[in-house]
Amino acid sequence: MAVDYSAKPLLTVDGLKQYFKVSKSFTVHAVENVSFKIYPGETYGLVGESGSGKSTIGRSIIRLYDPTAGKIQFDGTEISGKLSTHDNHILRTQMQMIFQDPMASLNPRKKIGDIIGEGLDIHHAYMNRAERAEKIQDILAKVGLAPEHASRYPHQFSGGQRQRVGIARALIMNPKLIIADECISALDVSIQAQVVNLMKDIQQETGTAYLFIAHDLSMVKYISDRIGVLHLGHLLETGTTEEIFSNPIHPYTRSLLSAIPAPNPIVEKQRVAESYDYKTSGIDYNQGTDHLVSGSHYVKCTDEEFAKWTKRVI
Ligand SMILES: Nc1ncnc2c1ncn2[C@@H]1O[C@H](COP(=O)(O)OP(=O)(O)O)[C@@H](O)[C@H]1O
Ligand SMILES: [Mg+2]
Repeated sequence: MAVDYSAKPLLTVDGLKQYFKVSKSFTVHAVENVSFKIYPGETYGLVGESGSGKSTIGRSIIRLYDPTAGKIQFDGTEISGKLSTHDNHILRTQMQMIFQDPMASLNPRKKIGDIIGEGLDIHHAYMNRAERAEKIQDILAKVGLAPEHASRYPHQFSGGQRQRVGIARALIMNPKLIIADECISALDVSIQAQVVNLMKDIQQETGTAYLFIAHDLSMVKYISDRIGVLHLGHLLETGTTEEIFSNPIHPYTRSLLSAIPAPNPIVEKQRVAESYDYKTSGIDYNQGTDHLVSGSHYVKCTDEEFAKWTKRVI
């Protein structure tokens, strides 16, 4: 399904800042002025190394944190300020999250069916027990699990199966946006591909959008329509997957791309990893502003950096 970029964005994040005061004299600037949009049915891949602020962005959007500054709009409703009961309900049902470690996020004492049905229970989303059971069975089938799995416990499942449970739990609310925070990072590579394919199939069927968070670009390339590159809380570059992969502008993006192993051994032998060290780079992220490269491709930098990196004359 092609994404309609002339449609109204499903999610608009505008100038998001998320700071954590850790002591009297020290505040962590986890997210610094981040703006991006996600369109209905789109997969937006957010990549960056550990500690770059990916999870914080996801958690601020779904309001596990109160944003320090900035505006977040979801499906036409502003969700960054004080939430009304109605808006809170929309947020808790229409936006769902899948976590990295399914074992830690699934209650070990609850049966899979009840874990999956939790959202339905909280939001009274069924008329009777039969309808509840039917909804759970439908979702189990959708994520490739068997009906009898509903009466088993999390420890009886493999890592890949548990992640399917995590997806089922998110999906049962029929959300418009799923935030998947490193949801495949803990899985074997072969299982990663299976889960990503499942997520793609589900998107085809339901039209849900994904904020797909990952620390490397390999799977992100495969699933994302657009990609945002995050470093030290700053969104440095964003564009379609094609724009980012064929014409990376920021040295940090280039270093991330050069770190991806090539599947072809001959190409892999010649691969040169580009190193990047912010401290010695002379780059100051706080001085950067968004520069349009082309299409929907933007890079955050100063005018001088932009001219140098794109070899343009100013
Ligand atoms: N609740 C918190 N209190 C203080 N610092 C935090 C908190 N959550 C995250 N951080 C810090 O914010 C930065 C970004 O963290 P995080 O969003 O978890 O990064 P990522 O998901 O990209 O690994 C890190 O420096 C982290 O230590
Ligand atoms: Mg994280």
